[in-house]
Amino acid sequence: MHTVHVDLAERSYPVYIGRDLFSDPQLLLGHLRGREVAIVSNVTVAPLYVQRLRAALGEGRRITEIILPDGEQHKTLATFEHILERLLADRHSRSTTLIALGGGVVGDITGFAAACYQRGVEFIQVPTTLLAQVDSSVGGKTAVNHPLGKNMIGAFHQPRAVLIDTNSLHTLPARELSAGLAEVIKYGLICDAEFYAWLLQAMPRLLARDDSALAEAIERSCALKASVVAADEREGGVRAILNLGHTFGHAIETAQGYGSWLHGEAVAVGMLLALRLSVGRGWVAAEEVARLESLLRAAQLPLDVPAGMSPAMFIDLMGRDKKVVDGQLRLVLLRAIGEACVVADVTTQELEGLLGAAAASAESAC
Ligand code: NAD
Ligand code: GLY
Repeated sequence: MHTVHVDLAERSYPVYIGRDLFSDPQLLLGHLRGREVAIVSNVTVAPLYVQRLRAALGEGRRITEIILPDGEQHKTLATFEHILERLLADRHSRSTTLIALGGGVVGDITGFAAACYQRGVEFIQVPTTLLAQVDSSVGGKTAVNHPLGKNMIGAFHQPRAVLIDTNSLHTLPARELSAGLAEVIKYGLICDAEFYAWLLQAMPRLLARDDSALAEAIERSCALKASVVAADEREGGVRAILNLGHTFGHAIETAQGYGSWLHGEAVAVGMLLALRLSVGRGWVAAEEVARLESLLRAAQLPLDVPAGMSPAMFIDLMGRDKKVVDGQLRLVLLRAIGEACVVADVTTQELEGLLGAAAASAESAC
């Protein structure tokens, strides 16, 4: 087992990464405050893993299971309210601990419920998708969606621990594995050129679910995320680089309806658009576009924007992004591979040129 530490003074916590961690009671028990526990999962993940988690919690605890419907379309205020109602109905006190068992949807909504229930209770992340293991379970961002924008209602609330059992990736659908690989590639692009180079050669092993390659990718991704979060917990500055490709990606997810494109798929296309803008500014060599395209292709991720999504649709949806400050869109670009920056001077003409070319290329690929 490997441990990555998220260093946030009194809110610091460990991220445990290894095989068969669900079966290790010590890891969980060391982070429970009281006897009350609520496991929040969904109808897909619970039948696979909830019994193992319950066994690790041992006897003598009062456990509520809250099993949600599956899917991004359920990451709503209504589902959030359902969790709170179950906690109230089962008389959970302020010393309860919520355990989020599932992907990023379960993790985000459980974390938000933990942030709000009785003004805040503790929670533990047990992420079971690659995307949740390398990104959403670490860093304390919690949220639900609103029809007018993704992740628009939420809170910063750090977990007490993150437990990553890499065995859980063996039941993950291939498309979900690929979506998680998009976020792994992101870390290489934004802050670690050597990791990016490693990914270029390791991608076939990652896609084949080679345990040691996956464990290495997860540990390096979590370590990179932990260092960025430790430097800027509430995204006042450098943490924004973790959103490479996300402003484009969120526009795609919102336009297509939550759940149609996977988050990681939308981010993959968004990263390619951000790289093209960076090349357009002369910061990155043009051949890096082909290199990223071939890496995304090897990870079985999309390269084209959705057919029929016009530059005007993109620009309208991107204007509603959380990173818009005083009406000015801020985008994460690359000064070099492994070095991200945030810019606030991208013009509408620059975006129209980029997105017009992307839409034309998507039409010709159809
Ligand atoms: P998800 O939670 O919808 O999980 C994907 C699918 O895989 C679901 O059908 C789920 O039931 C299933 N699943 C999960 N684990 C499984 C397993 N081990 N075996 C079989 N099936 C399994 O999607 P996701 O990609 O994990 O997360 C996406 C969400 O994360 C989005 O809502 C996004 O906004 C959010 N996110 C949050 C942050 C953050 O910092 N908080 C960062 C990135 C993404
Ligand atoms: N996924 C972006 C962040 O955690 O800040």
